[in-house]
Amino acid sequence: MEERLSSILEGVRSARGRVLVLTGAGISAESGIPTFRGRDGYWVVGSRNYIPQEMATREMFERAPEEVWRWYLYRFGVCKHAEPNAGHAALVALEAALGDRFTLVTQNIDGLHRRAGSRRVFTIHGDAAWVRCAGGCGGLRDLPPVEVRSKDEPLSAAQRSALTCPGCGGWLRPHVLWFDEYYDEENYRMDSALRAAGSAGLLLVVGTSGATSLPMEIGRIAFDRGIALVDVNPEENPFAELARASPRGFAARGSAVERLPEIARALGA
Ligand code: APR
Repeated sequence: MEERLSSILEGVRSARGRVLVLTGAGISAESGIPTFRGRDGYWVVGSRNYIPQEMATREMFERAPEEVWRWYLYRFGVCKHAEPNAGHAALVALEAALGDRFTLVTQNIDGLHRRAGSRRVFTIHGDAAWVRCAGGCGGLRDLPPVEVRSKDEPLSAAQRSALTCPGCGGWLRPHVLWFDEYYDEENYRMDSALRAAGSAGLLLVVGTSGATSLPMEIGRIAFDRGIALVDVNPEENPFAELARASPRGFAARGSAVERLPEIARALGA
Protein backbone atom coordinates (compact mmCIF):
# COMPACT_ATOMS: atom_id res chain seq x y z
CA MET A 1 0.00 0.00 0.00
CA GLU A 2 1.22 3.53 -0.73
CA GLU A 3 2.81 5.14 2.32
CA ARG A 4 0.61 8.25 2.19
CA LEU A 5 -2.57 6.13 2.02
CA SER A 6 -1.35 3.97 4.88
CA SER A 7 -0.67 6.99 7.12
CA ILE A 8 -4.08 8.54 6.32
CA LEU A 9 -5.86 5.29 7.25
CA GLU A 10 -3.72 4.86 10.38
CA GLY A 11 -4.77 8.37 11.44
CA VAL A 12 -8.45 7.44 11.11
CA ARG A 13 -7.93 4.14 12.89
CA SER A 14 -6.09 5.60 15.88
CA ALA A 15 -8.62 8.43 16.20
CA ARG A 16 -11.40 5.81 16.19
CA GLY A 17 -13.16 7.98 13.62
CA ARG A 18 -16.53 7.24 11.97
CA VAL A 19 -16.16 5.72 8.49
CA LEU A 20 -18.60 6.55 5.69
CA VAL A 21 -18.31 4.41 2.56
CA LEU A 22 -19.94 5.58 -0.70
CA THR A 23 -20.20 3.03 -3.51
CA GLY A 24 -21.24 3.02 -7.15
CA ALA A 25 -21.56 0.52 -9.98
CA GLY A 26 -17.81 -0.04 -10.10
CA ILE A 27 -17.85 -2.18 -6.94
CA SER A 28 -20.18 -4.67 -8.70
CA ALA A 29 -18.32 -4.66 -12.03
CA GLU A 30 -16.16 -7.60 -10.95
CA SER A 31 -19.38 -9.50 -10.12
CA GLY A 32 -20.34 -9.27 -13.79
CA ILE A 33 -22.91 -6.44 -13.52
CA PRO A 34 -22.32 -3.79 -16.23
CA THR A 35 -21.68 -0.24 -15.00
CA PHE A 36 -23.71 2.64 -16.48
CA ARG A 37 -21.18 4.72 -18.35
CA GLY A 38 -18.46 2.13 -19.00
CA ARG A 39 -17.90 0.53 -22.49
CA ASP A 40 -20.82 -1.98 -22.13
CA GLY A 41 -22.66 0.29 -19.69
CA TYR A 42 -26.46 0.41 -19.40
CA TRP A 43 -26.52 4.05 -20.54
CA VAL A 44 -24.30 3.16 -23.50
CA VAL A 45 -26.07 0.02 -24.73
CA GLY A 46 -29.67 0.82 -23.61
CA SER A 47 -32.65 -0.43 -25.62
CA ARG A 48 -33.57 -0.79 -29.26
CA ASN A 49 -36.10 2.02 -29.51
CA TYR A 50 -35.14 4.51 -26.83
CA ILE A 51 -32.29 6.67 -25.56
CA PRO A 52 -31.10 4.60 -22.58
CA GLN A 53 -31.69 7.10 -19.80
CA GLU A 54 -35.27 7.64 -21.05
CA MET A 55 -36.04 4.17 -19.74
CA ALA A 56 -35.26 5.39 -16.23
CA THR A 57 -37.88 8.14 -16.06
CA ARG A 58 -41.32 8.44 -14.49
CA GLU A 59 -42.46 10.09 -17.70
CA MET A 60 -41.52 6.98 -19.73
CA PHE A 61 -43.10 4.65 -17.14
CA GLU A 62 -46.39 6.51 -17.45
CA ARG A 63 -46.20 6.33 -21.26
CA ALA A 64 -44.98 2.72 -21.63
CA PRO A 65 -45.07 0.87 -18.27
CA GLU A 66 -44.69 -2.58 -19.81
CA GLU A 67 -41.64 -1.57 -21.87
CA VAL A 68 -39.98 -0.06 -18.79
CA TRP A 69 -40.83 -3.11 -16.71
CA ARG A 70 -39.30 -5.46 -19.30
CA TRP A 71 -36.08 -3.47 -19.24
CA TYR A 72 -35.91 -3.42 -15.46
CA LEU A 73 -36.84 -7.12 -15.11
CA TYR A 74 -34.01 -7.92 -17.52
CA ARG A 75 -31.59 -5.84 -15.38
CA PHE A 76 -32.93 -7.38 -12.13
CA GLY A 77 -32.28 -10.81 -13.60
CA VAL A 78 -28.63 -9.87 -14.16
CA CYS A 79 -28.38 -8.69 -10.52
CA LYS A 80 -30.08 -11.83 -9.19
CA HIS A 81 -27.60 -14.15 -10.94
CA ALA A 82 -24.53 -12.17 -9.80
CA GLU A 83 -22.58 -12.92 -6.60
CA PRO A 84 -20.97 -10.45 -4.18
CA ASN A 85 -17.16 -10.17 -4.63
CA ALA A 86 -14.14 -9.61 -2.36
CA GLY A 87 -14.82 -5.86 -2.43
CA HIS A 88 -18.30 -6.33 -0.94
CA ALA A 89 -16.89 -8.83 1.57
CA ALA A 90 -14.16 -6.41 2.71
CA LEU A 91 -16.83 -3.84 3.60
CA VAL A 92 -18.77 -6.46 5.59
CA ALA A 93 -15.58 -7.23 7.56
CA LEU A 94 -14.99 -3.51 8.14
CA GLU A 95 -18.57 -3.06 9.41
CA ALA A 96 -18.06 -6.00 11.78
CA ALA A 97 -14.93 -4.33 13.16
CA LEU A 98 -16.33 -0.80 13.47
CA GLY A 99 -19.98 -1.44 14.39
CA ASP A 100 -21.94 1.82 14.67
CA ARG A 101 -18.88 3.80 13.54
CA PHE A 102 -19.55 2.38 10.04
CA THR A 103 -22.11 3.61 7.47
CA LEU A 104 -22.48 2.49 3.84
CA VAL A 105 -24.25 4.67 1.27
CA THR A 106 -24.73 2.93 -2.06
CA GLN A 107 -26.05 4.10 -5.41
CA ASN A 108 -26.41 0.45 -6.48
CA ILE A 109 -29.85 -1.16 -6.70
CA ASP A 110 -28.30 -4.65 -7.22
CA GLY A 111 -28.62 -5.74 -3.57
CA LEU A 112 -25.09 -7.24 -3.51
CA HIS A 113 -24.06 -5.32 -0.37
CA ARG A 114 -27.11 -6.68 1.47
CA ARG A 115 -26.53 -10.19 0.12
CA ALA A 116 -22.86 -10.02 1.20
CA GLY A 117 -24.02 -9.24 4.76
CA SER A 118 -23.81 -5.43 5.03
CA ARG A 119 -26.42 -4.06 7.44
CA ARG A 120 -25.83 -0.34 8.02
CA VAL A 121 -26.70 0.51 4.39
CA PHE A 122 -28.59 3.43 2.83
CA THR A 123 -29.68 2.58 -0.74
CA ILE A 124 -30.06 6.12 -2.09
CA HIS A 125 -31.20 5.03 -5.59
CA GLY A 126 -33.56 2.28 -4.40
CA ASP A 127 -33.30 -1.51 -4.46
CA ALA A 128 -34.18 -4.09 -7.15
CA ALA A 129 -35.64 -6.41 -4.51
CA TRP A 130 -38.57 -4.09 -3.80
CA VAL A 131 -41.52 -2.53 -5.61
CA ARG A 132 -44.23 -0.10 -4.61
CA CYS A 133 -47.56 1.13 -6.03
CA ALA A 134 -47.03 3.61 -8.90
CA GLY A 135 -50.12 5.42 -7.61
CA GLY A 136 -48.64 5.75 -4.16
CA CYS A 137 -51.01 3.51 -2.21
CA GLY A 138 -49.28 1.23 0.36
CA GLY A 139 -45.61 0.76 1.25
CA LEU A 140 -42.69 -1.26 -0.08
CA ARG A 141 -43.35 -4.83 -1.22
CA ASP A 142 -41.05 -7.65 -2.32
CA LEU A 143 -40.52 -7.82 -6.09
CA PRO A 144 -42.98 -10.48 -7.36
CA PRO A 145 -41.30 -13.59 -8.82
CA VAL A 146 -41.42 -12.37 -12.45
CA GLU A 147 -38.41 -13.11 -14.67
CA VAL A 148 -37.87 -12.30 -18.34
CA ARG A 149 -35.38 -13.95 -20.68
CA SER A 150 -34.93 -10.84 -22.83
CA LYS A 151 -35.93 -7.17 -22.60
CA ASP A 152 -37.80 -7.52 -25.91
CA GLU A 153 -40.12 -10.41 -25.02
CA PRO A 154 -43.75 -9.28 -24.28
CA LEU A 155 -45.00 -9.89 -20.72
CA SER A 156 -47.59 -12.64 -20.30
CA ALA A 157 -51.00 -11.90 -18.74
CA ALA A 158 -49.83 -13.68 -15.57
CA GLN A 159 -46.69 -11.50 -15.41
CA ARG A 160 -48.73 -8.33 -15.91
CA SER A 161 -51.13 -9.33 -13.17
CA ALA A 162 -48.21 -10.07 -10.82
CA LEU A 163 -47.05 -6.46 -11.42
CA THR A 164 -50.47 -5.07 -10.46
CA CYS A 165 -51.01 -3.30 -7.13
CA PRO A 166 -53.29 -5.48 -4.92
CA GLY A 167 -54.52 -2.25 -3.26
CA CYS A 168 -55.72 -0.17 -6.23
CA GLY A 169 -55.32 -2.42 -9.27
CA GLY A 170 -52.88 0.00 -10.92
CA TRP A 171 -49.29 -0.77 -11.90
CA LEU A 172 -46.62 -1.55 -9.31
CA ARG A 173 -43.34 0.25 -10.08
CA PRO A 174 -39.71 -0.68 -9.37
CA HIS A 175 -38.39 0.88 -6.12
CA VAL A 176 -35.72 2.86 -7.98
CA LEU A 177 -34.99 6.60 -8.25
CA TRP A 178 -35.69 7.83 -11.79
CA PHE A 179 -33.90 10.71 -13.50
CA ASP A 180 -36.99 12.95 -13.38
CA GLU A 181 -37.52 12.32 -9.65
CA TYR A 182 -35.90 13.73 -6.48
CA TYR A 183 -34.07 12.22 -3.55
CA ASP A 184 -36.05 12.16 -0.29
CA GLU A 185 -35.70 10.60 3.15
CA GLU A 186 -38.72 8.29 3.03
CA ASN A 187 -37.70 6.29 -0.05
CA TYR A 188 -34.01 7.07 -0.52
CA ARG A 189 -32.64 8.08 2.97
CA MET A 190 -31.26 11.38 1.68
CA ASP A 191 -31.13 13.16 5.07
CA SER A 192 -29.59 10.10 6.75
CA ALA A 193 -26.84 10.00 4.10
CA LEU A 194 -26.12 13.72 4.50
CA ARG A 195 -26.06 13.39 8.30
CA ALA A 196 -23.54 10.57 7.99
CA ALA A 197 -21.33 12.87 5.86
CA GLY A 198 -21.61 15.52 8.58
CA SER A 199 -20.20 13.23 11.29
CA ALA A 200 -17.69 11.02 9.42
CA GLY A 201 -13.92 11.07 10.00
CA LEU A 202 -13.26 9.32 6.68
CA LEU A 203 -15.14 9.25 3.38
CA LEU A 204 -14.14 6.16 1.37
CA VAL A 205 -15.48 6.36 -2.20
CA VAL A 206 -15.51 3.23 -4.38
CA GLY A 207 -16.37 2.79 -8.04
CA THR A 208 -18.39 5.82 -9.00
CA SER A 209 -18.06 8.42 -11.79
CA GLY A 210 -19.77 11.10 -9.67
CA ALA A 211 -22.56 11.64 -12.19
CA THR A 212 -25.37 12.15 -9.65
CA SER A 213 -26.06 15.03 -7.24
CA LEU A 214 -26.43 13.55 -3.73
CA PRO A 215 -23.12 11.61 -3.90
CA MET A 216 -21.33 14.76 -5.08
CA GLU A 217 -22.96 16.69 -2.21
CA ILE A 218 -21.59 14.09 0.22
CA GLY A 219 -18.14 14.55 -1.36
CA ARG A 220 -18.34 18.32 -1.00
CA ILE A 221 -19.36 18.09 2.68
CA ALA A 222 -16.41 15.77 3.35
CA PHE A 223 -14.02 18.08 1.50
CA ASP A 224 -15.31 21.23 3.24
CA ARG A 225 -15.03 19.53 6.64
CA GLY A 226 -11.40 18.60 5.84
CA ILE A 227 -11.87 14.95 6.82
CA ALA A 228 -9.86 12.06 5.37
CA LEU A 229 -11.03 11.33 1.81
CA VAL A 230 -10.00 8.26 -0.17
CA ASP A 231 -11.19 7.32 -3.69
CA VAL A 232 -10.82 3.80 -5.16
CA ASN A 233 -11.24 3.66 -8.94
CA PRO A 234 -9.20 2.43 -11.91
CA GLU A 235 -10.05 5.65 -13.73
CA GLU A 236 -10.04 9.38 -13.16
CA ASN A 237 -13.26 10.85 -11.69
CA PRO A 238 -14.42 13.92 -9.72
CA PHE A 239 -13.91 12.16 -6.34
CA ALA A 240 -10.27 11.41 -7.24
CA GLU A 241 -9.81 15.14 -7.90
CA LEU A 242 -11.43 16.01 -4.54
CA ALA A 243 -9.21 13.46 -2.79
CA ARG A 244 -6.04 14.83 -4.38
CA ALA A 245 -7.07 18.40 -3.47
CA SER A 246 -7.78 17.37 0.13
CA PRO A 247 -4.96 17.72 2.75
CA ARG A 248 -5.86 14.23 4.07
CA GLY A 249 -6.88 12.72 0.73
CA PHE A 250 -5.66 9.96 -1.58
CA ALA A 251 -6.77 8.75 -5.02
CA ALA A 252 -6.08 4.99 -4.94
CA ARG A 253 -5.90 3.57 -8.44
CA GLY A 254 -7.13 0.03 -8.97
CA SER A 255 -10.27 -2.06 -8.72
CA ALA A 256 -12.52 -2.61 -5.71
CA VAL A 257 -11.44 -6.27 -5.43
CA GLU A 258 -7.75 -5.31 -5.61
CA ARG A 259 -7.79 -2.39 -3.13
CA LEU A 260 -10.62 -2.79 -0.61
CA PRO A 261 -9.35 -5.83 1.35
CA GLU A 262 -6.05 -4.08 2.26
CA ILE A 263 -7.85 -0.78 3.01
CA ALA A 264 -10.33 -2.54 5.30
CA ARG A 265 -7.48 -4.28 7.13
CA ALA A 266 -5.65 -0.96 7.57
CA LEU A 267 -8.82 0.44 9.17
CA GLY A 268 -9.07 -2.43 11.64
CA ALA A 269 -11.00 -5.24 9.89
N1 APR B 1 -13.56 -1.28 -9.26
C1 APR B 1 -13.73 0.04 -8.93
N2 APR B 1 -14.25 0.98 -9.78
C2 APR B 1 -14.57 0.55 -11.02
C3 APR B 1 -14.40 -0.79 -11.44
C4 APR B 1 -13.87 -1.72 -10.51
N3 APR B 1 -13.70 -3.00 -10.81
N4 APR B 1 -14.83 -0.90 -12.74
C5 APR B 1 -15.25 0.35 -13.12
N5 APR B 1 -15.09 1.22 -12.09
C6 APR B 1 -15.46 2.65 -12.04
C7 APR B 1 -15.41 3.37 -13.38
O1 APR B 1 -14.12 3.86 -13.66
C8 APR B 1 -16.42 4.50 -13.16
O2 APR B 1 -15.79 5.63 -12.59
O3 APR B 1 -16.80 2.71 -11.63
C9 APR B 1 -17.41 3.91 -12.13
C10 APR B 1 -18.78 3.55 -12.68
O4 APR B 1 -19.39 4.75 -13.08
P1 APR B 1 -20.89 4.75 -13.67
O5 APR B 1 -21.04 3.69 -14.68
O6 APR B 1 -21.18 6.14 -14.06
O7 APR B 1 -21.78 4.29 -12.40
P2 APR B 1 -22.18 5.12 -11.10
O8 APR B 1 -21.16 6.14 -10.77
O9 APR B 1 -22.55 4.16 -10.07
O10 APR B 1 -23.52 5.87 -11.61
C11 APR B 1 -24.21 6.63 -10.66
O11 APR B 1 -25.95 7.15 -12.12
O12 APR B 1 -27.21 6.59 -13.81
C12 APR B 1 -27.23 6.70 -12.49
O13 APR B 1 -28.66 5.50 -11.06
C13 APR B 1 -27.50 5.37 -11.80
O14 APR B 1 -26.65 4.74 -9.63
C14 APR B 1 -26.29 5.19 -10.91
C15 APR B 1 -25.67 6.57 -10.87
